[in-house]
Amino acid sequence: MNVNHVATVRQSRQSTSPDPVHAALQAELAGADGITMQLREDRRHIQDHDIERFAHSCQTKLGLQIEATDAMREVALRIMPRDVTLVPENREELTTDGGLDIAGRLSMYTDYVASLQQAGIHTALFINPEEAQIEAAARVGAPVVELHTGRYASAESAAERSAELSRIVSCCDYAFSLGLIVNAGHGLHYDNVQSIAEIESITELTIGHSLIARALYWGLPTAVSKMKRMMVEARHR
Ligand code: PXP
Repeated sequence: MNVNHVATVRQSRQSTSPDPVHAALQAELAGADGITMQLREDRRHIQDHDIERFAHSCQTKLGLQIEATDAMREVALRIMPRDVTLVPENREELTTDGGLDIAGRLSMYTDYVASLQQAGIHTALFINPEEAQIEAAARVGAPVVELHTGRYASAESAAERSAELSRIVSCCDYAFSLGLIVNAGHGLHYDNVQSIAEIESITELTIGHSLIARALYWGLPTAVSKMKRMMVEARHR
């Protein structure tokens, strides 16, 4: 579960609540297998102290999403989360728009991934489901890719959704065949998660917005446990 949105509400009042660390601990108790926090350059939601505090009380695993900059690497190496996912960052965006262009910056990502991997941080690259990017991710030595499911999630017709799903399935298989661990996320919700969760080559899904949105009505534990049940059911049917 990604808890950025909890911090967004808190930051809207520059207050101390709601606390994304409390939400993360509650989500873990409800069945979340890991917690993701994204630290942005402008600190618009998650703050450094959120990651530091959660790192000390995490019961599952902490994943940090960052842009590949020197300043963010310093934070990662200080906090030493189990996982880091490199994501693109653009100040104007509402959420992470699109994946990284690994193919266009091979040597930069090779060095950056190596510096995190050497420190023992499991490093993932957030990319669009495109063969060229997957191949590039394998070339730079990242053990994990997270495939961006945003185009699938925002498809406007059944035909478009099905085409995007086929693209994701074949990209998952391709990444898996190259020896990569395959994760996915973005825009997943209660009505679209199962088609993705049933793809066998996927290891993890990262979900934020829909969980927090539903938690407003159901409460966070119910929102998390229902999503988890749907994912597990999809996996075993
Ligand atoms: N994965 C990555 C890399 C993200 O940047 C985000 C959004 O912060 C997510 C997954 C979760 O997306 P959503 O909030 O749409 O579930």
